[in-house]
Amino acid sequence: YLQQEEILEQECKTLISSLPKENGWVASHLYKYQGFWNPARHVRGILTCQENFEARNSDVFLVSTPKSGTTWLKAILFTLINRKHCPINQNHPLLRNNPHDLVPFLELKLYVDNQIPDLSTLNSPRLFATHIPFFSLPKSVHDSSCKLVYLCRNPKDTFVSLWQFSNKLRLQEMGSNSLGEAFDMFCRGVSIYGPFWDHVLDYWKESMEKPHKVLFLKYEDMKEHPIDNLRCIAEFLGCPFSEQEEALGMLEEISKLCSFDNLSNLEINRTGKLSSGEQNKAFFRRGEVGDWKNHLTAEMVEKLDHITLHNFSGSGLEL
Ligand code: A3P
Repeated sequence: YLQQEEILEQECKTLISSLPKENGWVASHLYKYQGFWNPARHVRGILTCQENFEARNSDVFLVSTPKSGTTWLKAILFTLINRKHCPINQNHPLLRNNPHDLVPFLELKLYVDNQIPDLSTLNSPRLFATHIPFFSLPKSVHDSSCKLVYLCRNPKDTFVSLWQFSNKLRLQEMGSNSLGEAFDMFCRGVSIYGPFWDHVLDYWKESMEKPHKVLFLKYEDMKEHPIDNLRCIAEFLGCPFSEQEEALGMLEEISKLCSFDNLSNLEINRTGKLSSGEQNKAFFRRGEVGDWKNHLTAEMVEKLDHITLHNFSGSGLEL
């Protein structure tokens, strides 16, 4: 076992030193692995996961681009999937735990720092989250009939959210990334799990080809139609709401429990920390559509819109 880890460590070092490298937003560097940029620690997590993770047909994966509302969807999927044995009451796990501690990221929590967790003891359906790009997913995820719920958000809000978040994570002595610098890197695709457009497009195409395998969701649409989206997710996952559940207002209850106002005001999310050290409140900022209007210049908007239009042209996808 130990030997296996040592081999992996060595493999990673050799691999990472051979990858294209750029300055990072938070960590010192980003490396381009299989077409996408990540800090060395994440590359290692992805690699360990690729080599060791065994998917089950019943697994559910929440996949997202960073800052697209992952925390929110973690809360929703957890509540939805566990609704039979975790009823919505004073004892609901979300009232005492940040969603990231209930739904772990494969490559950032489970397979991070060369850990090879034993996931075989978990009850089905297992729920995992990941930001891994489509073509880098572990082979067993592609080969099994597990399901992927993919979430993205318009690139302007995603960028603003990412810029603000990365400045929060930077050590004080490092200072902040300027908006201009970060913008330039984002546009060049040099952002965590970027290029943003490639990440989204690969999952979009798969959702078109295999709608039973990938459900493609947008943050803006979830904000506008939370109940319809909930119903649609439940059907996709094979656990549709019964007539009785509908009549009892369960969809509204889940939507309320997982809302920005509710989650962000809970004591655990105002003052708590994740087991990985980040402050829970860092994951709740404004939670609105269109905050980019308060940050981006007209030129930035034009440039980002142009890149998006160019990248998505002919795909049928609009963000
Ligand atoms: P803003 O920075 O625009 O406020 P992620 O969870 O993928 O890291 O994304 C974080 C973004 O989702 C942040 O966006 C955050 O405020 C928003 N968010 C967190 N919880 C939310 C919720 N329950 N409903 C809507 N948005 C939420």
